[in-house]
Amino acid sequence: MTASPDTNTEADDFALADEFALATQTPLLPLLIERIEAAGGRITFAEFMAQALGHPEHGYYSRAGLTWGRDGDYETSPEVHPIFGYLWARQVLECWQRLGGPSSFALIEVGCGSGAFMRAILTWLRARAPHCFAAVRPVMLDGHPNRLADQRAHLTGAGFEAEHTLTADWLARPERVTGVVISNEFFDALPVHLVRRDGETFIERYVTHEDGALCLVDGPLSTPAIEAYFARLGLPPGDGALAEVGLAASEAMRAIASKMERGYLLSIDYGYPARDLYASWRRQGTLMAFRRHSPQPDPLAEPGRLDLTVHVDFTSLAAAAEGFEEAPLVSQAEALMALGLGEALRAASRRAAVDAQRFAADRRAAEVLCEPEGLGRIRVLALAKGAPLDGLRCLRPVLG
Ligand SMILES: C[S@@+](CC[C@H](N)C(=O)[O-])C[C@H]1O[C@@H](n2cnc3c(N)ncnc32)[C@H](O)[C@@H]1O
Repeated sequence: MTASPDTNTEADDFALADEFALATQTPLLPLLIERIEAAGGRITFAEFMAQALGHPEHGYYSRAGLTWGRDGDYETSPEVHPIFGYLWARQVLECWQRLGGPSSFALIEVGCGSGAFMRAILTWLRARAPHCFAAVRPVMLDGHPNRLADQRAHLTGAGFEAEHTLTADWLARPERVTGVVISNEFFDALPVHLVRRDGETFIERYVTHEDGALCLVDGPLSTPAIEAYFARLGLPPGDGALAEVGLAASEAMRAIASKMERGYLLSIDYGYPARDLYASWRRQGTLMAFRRHSPQPDPLAEPGRLDLTVHVDFTSLAAAAEGFEEAPLVSQAEALMALGLGEALRAASRRAAVDAQRFAADRRAAEVLCEPEGLGRIRVLALAKGAPLDGLRCLRPVLG
């Protein structure tokens, strides 16, 4: 008997390689390959990341039915517990007071995920600070229509009204605003260029394809803005080290800051000051891919299905906010303690006798939000324009 050409037999395990390859194919992969071909054989990593996260149909953040928190690929602070938003609501209240308690005040969140952060902030303001709540005009900005629709449903379901707008549309409007812009893990999800320092010059890492898969290839810098970025900082990464350059993050901050007449920019993100981000001992940069709470080895695999994230360069981010005063960075753990996490826990402990389980869950959430190796090491960048920054509540551990 001759061997059957049918590969679907128990013995032919090598044929399963095809199934494996199929499982790692995503609808975005052939579109990226087309794009690479059309661009002459390679695209920048920033362009790849913009497509992987934001392709209108197949991008990680743009597709329909994205799940957040424990059921998703990673858990952000607002998804851990609403106490995160309640504590930041105290900061929003103080900002409003420092701005003179205006009768109308914009509270703008950028990159709103499920909508849980804004919902918690508004819940606290409605319950604990009704005067501020009456003045607040919530604006939720996102880059993707599916996310805006989910966020609208989330807020409406809780009885809140907000304006839901694409960031680019909001930025294109001529009017300037007074208020607070707050974001959690927004800047760390924006596209970056990948570079490697090679003596006095830089090599850029581009995305190309080979045998139906994506891979990286070296080339000259795609834009002089990258050299200008490091020249401004006065500190290049270590020789031979890989590094990310967040031109999009700086540009987003510049554009948002220029929309502000007066107010505060509160950016909560994974990141470092440039001297730490580009320290010579950091050899591999900070780019990470996540799926189901596990880091993935290859950020180019399964484009559109993996979350991609980098650590933010807070020095460049702050510099991009022209006209704003900058406070020293604080960690999320420090900020939450300054905003009253300890008091909130003590108050919750008084209920422990009647509901021990609930108190245990509350305490666990507080620990997760402050974990030094996890969410607690996220940093807070606070910037102010036409309003006092000194002694802002979330900064008190640093400013004394
Ligand atoms: C890492 S998630 C964080 C979500 C949420 N802030 C949280 O903490 O759970 C990044 C968010 O930024 C959004 N995003 C991506 N590009 C954007 C843009 N250009 N403008 C505003 N939001 C954007 C994504 O859709 C997503 O909602």
